[in-house]
Amino acid sequence: MLIKNVLLYGEGEPTDVLLADGVIVAIGADVGTGHDSDVELIDATGQILLPGFVDLHTHLREPGREDTETIDSGSAAAALGGYTAVFAMANTSPVADSVVVTDHVWRRGQEVGLVDVHPVGAVTVGLEGRQLAEMATMASGIGGVRMFSDDGHCVDDPLIMRRALEYSSSLGVLIAQHAEEPRLTVGAVAHEGPTASRLGLAGWPRAAEESIVARDALLARDAGARVHICHASTAGTVELMKWARGQGIAITAEVTPHHLLLDDSRLETYDAVNKVNPPLREASDVAALRAGLADGTIDCVATDHAPHAEQDKCCEFAAARPGMLGLETALSIVATTMVRTGLLDWRGVARVMSERPAEIVGLDDQGRSLEVGEPANLVLVDPDAEWTVHGPDLASVSHNTPYEAMRLPARVTTTILRGRITARDGETRLPARLGGR
Ligand code: DOR
Ligand code: ZN
Repeated sequence: MLIKNVLLYGEGEPTDVLLADGVIVAIGADVGTGHDSDVELIDATGQILLPGFVDLHTHLREPGREDTETIDSGSAAAALGGYTAVFAMANTSPVADSVVVTDHVWRRGQEVGLVDVHPVGAVTVGLEGRQLAEMATMASGIGGVRMFSDDGHCVDDPLIMRRALEYSSSLGVLIAQHAEEPRLTVGAVAHEGPTASRLGLAGWPRAAEESIVARDALLARDAGARVHICHASTAGTVELMKWARGQGIAITAEVTPHHLLLDDSRLETYDAVNKVNPPLREASDVAALRAGLADGTIDCVATDHAPHAEQDKCCEFAAARPGMLGLETALSIVATTMVRTGLLDWRGVARVMSERPAEIVGLDDQGRSLEVGEPANLVLVDPDAEWTVHGPDLASVSHNTPYEAMRLPARVTTTILRGRITARDGETRLPARLGGR
């Protein structure tokens, strides 16, 4: 495959990139000469080449809620969003707390073949927070689990969290914490602040997140372990991350696209499409999260793609499930909030959407530099394209996008996994053995 006239990281002069056998074999102005007949040509004039995106936080709902998403439909959404690897959270039904489930998720992802679906294992049995799951068994399965999380729930018992961290460092795996002190969020449905008070919605205080971030930083320090903070949502979390890093603690954090764009003023309509956990915060938090992502205090963007059925969203606010779609809109939201604002250039986008997430979780075939010899896990982006989001047009089974009818900048045109096109111009391409081209 020959990609012609592309800007690497959006920098310098357009060049050509030749791929063969799943790797980048040549980069330069005339590298395609002599290959004319048997080479698939991609004219990428005006487009940017980046390493394929890596999502540390996605909910694919299989097994158990295939009425809202499947590994098949979620993989399509991921490929269309420019992702070449995603981590599928463990809060499925049954919970991914055993190697049977984690191996199934990996195998099914490979069968579909559009993106590497890495299973996340549960930290505790049934996500109940009481007994550690069999992490070593899941880590040594075919699915090779390298990240564990009870996401959706916080591992709130400090002794269980301490043991999980100690165990994780000896196994060389990562614990990702959904930071929410549950005693402070009983019945909470919205950010605790003036908006929730006025609307009569029960509040979720910032301290519920921040107290767990601070506690887990200390536990990681003492265990000599690494901890990863899921969906950081407050200015205080950004400050705590700075403090912990200053102490030399091995802590990393992600922010979601929705927390980079939206704030709790969205709740005025009581439309539960805006209900998410942690909740949309205030404009000052949004500004702090953007600044933290720009300066590296927050390591990366992760979608927290959370598909939900119509009946679980189109109902009274308190009864609705929290979560929003994210895979197909992530790049455009990052372009809006970080690139158009001058906070990140395209090399910075490669860092926060591909390189850092791959490093955090230790994937050595993803998030690589655009250099000869590196695996061809790539995405082509048209920075000047604009598109209008329409939920039913997305590949997900569910339609709960908070960006409905919004016009957004930047579009993924092509996603390439190990040298093979998985998505092009809004269509996925299945592997040939499944009847694809
Ligand atoms: O909004 C959320 N949705 N936050 C979570 O932690 C879980 C997720 C889900 O599974 O729907
Ligand atoms: Zn979560």
